[in-house]
Amino acid sequence: MNDEIMNLIGTIANPATKKTLGVENRIKEVLVNDEKVTIKYDREGISPTEKRVIEDSIYGLLKSKFEEDNITIMTVSKDSKDVFTGASEKKQEQPQQPKASIQAGHGPAGANKKRIPNVKKILAVSSCKGGVGKSTVSVNLAITLKNMGMKVGILDADIYGPSMPLLLGQRNAKPAANDNKKILPIEAHGLKFISFGLFIQEDDAVIWRGPMLGGVLNQFLFDVEWGELDYLIVDLPPGTGDMQLSMVQATEVDAAIVVSTPQQVAILDSKKGMKMFEKTNVPIIGMIENMSYFVPDDNLEKKYYIFGNGGVKKACAELDTQFLGEIPMEISLRESSDNGIPYMSLKEYEGRPVWKSYMNLAKHIEEAMSEKTKKGFFSKILGK
Ligand SMILES: Nc1ncnc2c1ncn2[C@@H]1O[C@H](COP(=O)(O)OP(=O)(O)OP(=O)(O)O)[C@@H](O)[C@H]1O
Ligand SMILES: [Mg+2]
Repeated sequence: MNDEIMNLIGTIANPATKKTLGVENRIKEVLVNDEKVTIKYDREGISPTEKRVIEDSIYGLLKSKFEEDNITIMTVSKDSKDVFTGASEKKQEQPQQPKASIQAGHGPAGANKKRIPNVKKILAVSSCKGGVGKSTVSVNLAITLKNMGMKVGILDADIYGPSMPLLLGQRNAKPAANDNKKILPIEAHGLKFISFGLFIQEDDAVIWRGPMLGGVLNQFLFDVEWGELDYLIVDLPPGTGDMQLSMVQATEVDAAIVVSTPQQVAILDSKKGMKMFEKTNVPIIGMIENMSYFVPDDNLEKKYYIFGNGGVKKACAELDTQFLGEIPMEISLRESSDNGIPYMSLKEYEGRPVWKSYMNLAKHIEEAMSEKTKKGFFSKILGK
């Protein structure tokens, strides 16, 4: 069995050299113990991103033989101790310096998470797919909570498509630093926000690797003068990549919500995403269906189910998670986003279908996250 697995993994190509791991003699150990397997390989000269590719291939090749939770991958290299990146182990070694290996890969949450002083709740907004309206939801939910009297900030952690400067009409803003060398967030529409987009040119092709990502994210969490906030809403990139892991490893995320459209809800992807949050002890409040139906401006009573009806609700039942509600499509929502003035900040839309949906959503989330109901609600979700 060990040899068979060693040969199988040996066929994986090292993206750095295009030669196979077998040819390069990188596989140092394969240990099978009942239904568990531990792989140790030499990662000398392999970048965090390439490491991620290799490890995804290992998981892919072994998934028919072992549960993902039972696969442990360790790496060795000249300048590091063995570094654990498996999913099943409870303990993780914390190297002195931030190392790529703990910021990329499938590790559980680190032990030295910090909270941001004076920030009461961190809510992560995630999605399995891109373009489902995650940023639109983040920004309008933030405005709704602000309208309800709360102090709200947004951390745009979407490195590949930062859209907060556009959505908040601040494309040319440049953050300043204060005397304590802390970054001052940009303030717009009554929110504070920070975004990768404020530091790069809009047409820059950005390639960030694991350690850089973690570093910048840490700066955004802890070196930004957030002041007192009731909510910090984090707009995450789609999927379950390095950024999500860096995030949950760096700080205590109080809860996460998942945005999907009726058509794009992929049960398997959603399961994977939810599992990642659960493994790192981030309670998932539930899923939101965005673009549930289209409401034309000339008849606000009408509903056109362009992408089918009830997709996310069904998925929630299957995934055993809360359905947080539907947000319809309105042309005004898209237009206001493009104009950099969030829909929920415009009084004229009060009472319209999208407005009502955001009010319901914000109430639902506030209720779920409020101290009073927190314990019972989350233990119900987590089944503990
Ligand atoms: N309910 C809605 N009604 C009308 N337009 C919407 C709605 N939700 C989102 N949009 C529009 O759909 C587009 C994609 O939304 P958005 O950028 O928020 O998605 P995203 O999930 O953050 O995408 P990405 O993965 O690129 O970050 C935008 O043009 C936005 O204005
Ligand atoms: Mg986005």
